[in-house]
Amino acid sequence: MHVAMRVVRDSDVPLTSQIQRFIKSEVAAGVLHPGSRLPSSRSLADELGVSRSVVVEAYGQLVAEGYLEAVQGAGTRVVRHLGPEPVVPTLLDDGRVPDVRWDLRPGAPAFPHFPRRDWLTSYQRALQSADPADHDYPPPAGVPALRVELAHYLGRVCGVPGTPDQIMVVAGFAQTLGLLGAALPELGVDALGMENPGHPRQRRFVRECGLRPVPLPVDAEGIDVSALRASGVRAVLVTPAHQYPTGVTLSARRRAELAAWARETGGWIVEDDYDGGLWYERGTPRPLALRRLAPDHVVYAGTASKTLAPGLRLGWLAAPPAVLDPLLRARARHDLGTDSLAQLAFAEFLRSGLYDRHLRRLNSLCRDRRQVLEAAVRRHLPGAVVLGPAAGLHACIRLPPRTDEAALVAGALRRSVLVRGAAAFHARAGEGAPALVVGHAQLPRTGIEEAIAELGKVLGKVLG
Ligand SMILES: Cc1ncc(COP(=O)(O)O)c(C=O)c1O
Repeated sequence: MHVAMRVVRDSDVPLTSQIQRFIKSEVAAGVLHPGSRLPSSRSLADELGVSRSVVVEAYGQLVAEGYLEAVQGAGTRVVRHLGPEPVVPTLLDDGRVPDVRWDLRPGAPAFPHFPRRDWLTSYQRALQSADPADHDYPPPAGVPALRVELAHYLGRVCGVPGTPDQIMVVAGFAQTLGLLGAALPELGVDALGMENPGHPRQRRFVRECGLRPVPLPVDAEGIDVSALRASGVRAVLVTPAHQYPTGVTLSARRRAELAAWARETGGWIVEDDYDGGLWYERGTPRPLALRRLAPDHVVYAGTASKTLAPGLRLGWLAAPPAVLDPLLRARARHDLGTDSLAQLAFAEFLRSGLYDRHLRRLNSLCRDRRQVLEAAVRRHLPGAVVLGPAAGLHACIRLPPRTDEAALVAGALRRSVLVRGAAAFHARAGEGAPALVVGHAQLPRTGIEEAIAELGKVLGKVLG
């Protein structure tokens, strides 16, 4: 027990009560946590210079009052559940997640395909070849070896132009967005155009970063560039390869319009390539990065969250110097860089070709799940269509026009299927046609079939 625990011998308060009071107050103050182990009665008695029976009695009382529990073979500890568990709201989700049989939410946890062995091999190689300087604080833009590998990878796979010195390693796209919240105002930008529908928590995050989010409509060709021009904003965030959440790809015409808007107005485009590397549409190549069309105006941003794991907190960006410099200054005010060993491991993962191999496997698995999804939708959801190319970890399913989307989502939950309706992704209530946004890559084939069959049973009842 820590040094603050003292007993006063010539006090009116008995020694047992002193020990009890101390432990209770440390639990109440959040210093002793649920599940924390306490010293054995013998060692605490020795430390306090009291007889063991005093401590045994104090512990016994606290067990009786429900503060402590005696665990067979593991001594005494603070009880695990002192009252209800607090629900901590996070950036990632707005509340509790019901315990369901099938979780179809895009970005649902337990993504099971992390390449454990290959990552371990890369990490081991990186650790073995690291020299003492590699254990120092990394450069704010990232370790040079990773920036070189990223420049090669991004050019080869995504068609992103850029030298290693235009690349910055970050803690996922969330950090890119947070840093842009600091960097864009230095460039005279105070509002950010955002796709509608789009990522709902990103909208809130952008607002919290101090930028004004301006919703801009998305149609079958991607973001509406005329609406962007009309809005007067000087920066826009887009997901051109596979729009989030509709899944549509920004058409060649719109790409050209967007690049022309940026050049004519001196505007900035943030290209969120959140599922770059995941494209399995047969016969149609993934469009090359928007950054090719206007390298002086586009910040290209990628992440390992979809292809590897969000928990890695690993992302990257390629930016023109006018934006990169304020981004680096913002980063220096924020933290002292990304874990250098994880960066070196990722550099090795890229260099050795293990990432390419992982992507090949992952794309093949995703293609299989997408085919199962499309077949299940045809079978169980008459009139519904899976939109967009086969890409990424999720798909958008457009429902028959008269579907009561909210009733479908609620009915699905009663059948133990958790699914998000498109309404959750719109900036305003009542916008958009009925649709579902479904994460399919994390589910077994039978799970997709079963979950969509359950949705089918509800659909008949909720058509207006
Ligand atoms: C549209 C979009 N952008 C970016 C990300 C990735 O964010 P991060 O790299 O911070 O995990 C996600 C993840 O869900 C996403 O849906």
